[in-house]
This record gives sequence, structure tokens and C-alpha cells, in this order.
Amino acid sequence: MHDMTAANLRSAFGGESQAHMRYKLWGEAAEKEGFPNIARLFRAISFAEQVHASNHFTELSKEGGAYLVASMAEFGLGATSENLVRAIEGETYEMDEMYPAYLETAGFQAQKGAVHSFYYALSAEKAHAAMFKRAKEAADAGKDLELGAVQICDVCGFTLEGDIPDKCPICGVNKERFKTFAEQKSRIYRQIISCQGRRNV
Ligand SMILES: [Fe+2]
Ligand SMILES: [Fe+2]
Repeated sequence: MHDMTAANLRSAFGGESQAHMRYKLWGEAAEKEGFPNIARLFRAISFAEQVHASNHFTELSKEGGAYLVASMAEFGLGATSENLVRAIEGETYEMDEMYPAYLETAGFQAQKGAVHSFYYALSAEKAHAAMFKRAKEAADAGKDLELGAVQICDVCGFTLEGDIPDKCPICGVNKERFKTFAEQKSRIYRQIISCQGRRNV
């Protein structure tokens, strides 16, 4: 593999790995702050970033060795509204600068696997930025986000809200490959359903 594309894959792996962890932590903060749907959005997108990191790492499977890896990464753990500002900044950087440049370089160097890996990530980051913007508007108004089921393709990380399409529009795999992050019903709701079930037996 050409050095520059390999270095870009390592950097993207670092960035996605950190985003995966950062969203877990910001999700826990959102849960504590009383925003369960924003917490669920963070958990879902954390999984999408894991898919991207895994794809980049797999592309590097023949490029073993130890490297210092520099990645642009957001830091800070504050109120959910502040965490969302950082999430939007991170996604926007990846979408507007990092992935388009990495994709162009990988294409120029005819690194087909890396082109796929960068293209998959770029396609998902656009949805992530838009969803985090909606979440920030809700948090700023002191409300939780209205959010349906969030669906993540476990091959390319494609992210959407609502029903799963028959095939992933980005990588083409069947709907079975999607992981769903659905709304958790409240504990009281679950107790009512379980009582009704027992009565019907
Ligand atoms: Fe993302
Ligand atoms: Fe996909």
C-alpha cells in the first residue's frame, strides 16, 4: 500500500476509535442529564464509528507495525449541549475536510480498498452531523430529542432513523445486517405489559 494512504487509514482509525469512545461517554452524560433519546443517539453513532474504525483497521491488516498516530479529536466532558457542539464540530471536520481529502488521495493512488473504507465513513458522517444538530436544538430547549429507531449498517456504518430499507443504499447488503437502536419503554410501561401478559395466560 502507498505510504500516504496507509498513514491516512491509521489516522482515520485513531479518529474513529476515539469518536467511538467519546460518544459512549457523552451518551452516559446525556442519560444522567435526563435525555434518554440523546443518549441512545450517542450509543447508536458510537457503534457506527466502531464499524468505520474496524473497516480502516481491516484495510491495514497487511501493514503491521508500531506507529505514532496523529488524529484530530475533540476533548471535553460538559453539559450535553456543549458535548453536542463538539460532536457536530468533529463530524463536520470529517465530512468537509478529512474524508474528502483522504478519499481523493486513495483514488489517486488507486487503493481500491481504502477508497471503499473512506467512502463508507464519509457517507455516514453527513447523517451524523444532521442528527446531532437536531439533538442540540432539543437540548438547548431543555427537552429530550424526538427520535425513532436508529438503524446502523454493520458493514459500512450507514445511519438512518426509521424503517430499514431492503438493501443498504451505500454498500448494498441486505437489511438483516442492520443493528437497531430502538426506544426503551419505561420500566412502568414494561410492568404493565408483563401484567397484561400474565392475565391473558
Ligand atoms: Fe460520525
Ligand atoms: Fe451498508
